[in-house]
Amino acid sequence: MKDQLIDTYGRVHRDLRISVTDRCNFRCQYCMPEEGMDWTPREDLLTFEEIERLAKLLVHRFGIESIRLTGGEPTVRANLNKLIEKLAKLDVDLSLTTNGATLPLVAQDLYEAGLNRINISLDTLDPERFKSLTRRDNLKQELQGIEAAKAVGFDPVKINMVVMKGINDDEVLDFISYGRENNVVVRFIEFMPLDADEVWEKSKVMSQDEILALITPHYDLEPVFRGSSPAERWKFADGSGEIGIIATVSEAFCEACDRIRLTADGKFRNCLFAIKEFDIRTLLRENVDDEELVQLFSDAVKDKWAGHQIGKSVFIRPSKSMSQIGG
Ligand code: GTP
Ligand code: 5AD
Ligand code: SF4
Repeated sequence: MKDQLIDTYGRVHRDLRISVTDRCNFRCQYCMPEEGMDWTPREDLLTFEEIERLAKLLVHRFGIESIRLTGGEPTVRANLNKLIEKLAKLDVDLSLTTNGATLPLVAQDLYEAGLNRINISLDTLDPERFKSLTRRDNLKQELQGIEAAKAVGFDPVKINMVVMKGINDDEVLDFISYGRENNVVVRFIEFMPLDADEVWEKSKVMSQDEILALITPHYDLEPVFRGSSPAERWKFADGSGEIGIIATVSEAFCEACDRIRLTADGKFRNCLFAIKEFDIRTLLRENVDDEELVQLFSDAVKDKWAGHQIGKSVFIRPSKSMSQIGG
């Protein structure tokens, strides 16, 4: 029998998220400062060979079943296809979260390299608002990117919309129409305190209940089985499409959490909001054997807390922003 990455609360971890770069071609207000950030120097990034070694070990030794590549923006990492080809051989559910703007150029290659699924971040359908939120004038490319992802065969294509009160909450119904018309699954996400500029305040969070209150007067929803997914899911009773809500703030799903993370600079994180990281890169570069890495993964998962404490006085904001952790 395989070993399990099990924590002291009995949660077995099977879902790995790997950030491949902290760079991004956007400068989203809630994620990155306008002037950009000091990118991690290339030599500090895990190489594809290092990522492959860790992923293999985690899959073969601990039964990791799914791997999601994140960023920053993962498609700005050079030769990403080569990494996807390596990871696709591991026979896991292999997915990517992207802002979508490069997809018209790269969707076909990603698909052919063996990527299974794509989630695309999009917070507004209004060009002017898009420019202000992302500090880039790329809505057209992004919508073309969504089309490209569907056209090459990705299914499902999911859209992540972070709903922020007073900023884009008036677009929830527009996103529902967009999702139904374009055959994409829209997921509404509660705004989390992981923004680089620290603009997060509780009053800007649109809760799951508030989002549902906008939708249910217009549509009949039927619940769909959720599993360990952070998204609560519903399908439309008329059979046309599905939506999800990721309610990290109002209804934390930590008790079902099965996620671990590797950052682009080679740190292991046992929680999105973890304060402590475990330095894998240094170990790798000291040429340690697999057993030492196995021990570190096991210890780091045992160290995991019950869950985040957003909104409570004990909550400490991680020193890294979303773009550095990878969401
Ligand atoms: P699926 O496998 O398609 O369900 O993907 P996903 O929703 O897990 O991944 P995605 O990268 O699309 O993330 C969607 C939102 O969920 C983002 O805002 C993430 O930050 C958030 N999210 C992802 N993982 C976690 C987690 O472990 N904890 C919390 N609190 N939020 C998470
Ligand atoms: N709160 C919630 N979701 C966020 N994302 C980025 N920053 C935040 C935040 N502060 C989302 C992105 C992307 C995913 C990886 O995380 O929109 O879809
Ligand atoms: Fe898991 Fe931490 Fe996210 Fe909770 S906040 S679901 S424990 S990663």
